[in-house]
Amino acid sequence: MYVCICNALKCSQFREAAQGGAQDVTSAFKACGAKPRCGRCFEEAASLIEQSLAPMEPMPHAIAAE
Ligand code: FES
Repeated sequence: MYVCICNALKCSQFREAAQGGAQDVTSAFKACGAKPRCGRCFEEAASLIEQSLAPMEPMPHAIAAE
């Protein structure tokens, strides 16, 4: 799904940018080789970056077989 229409950037590109070290929208745009324009995507992009940087939830404990 496209997040940034101005630059045709997809969710996956923002996630990859975050996993590659981008910690905010500006650095994610830079990592994607794009420049922010209208700003409509900033909130969604920031959310994707935040989710990508968040630590993984621990796995639920397995139920021991008796
Ligand atoms: S939609 Fe991303 S800068 Fe316009």
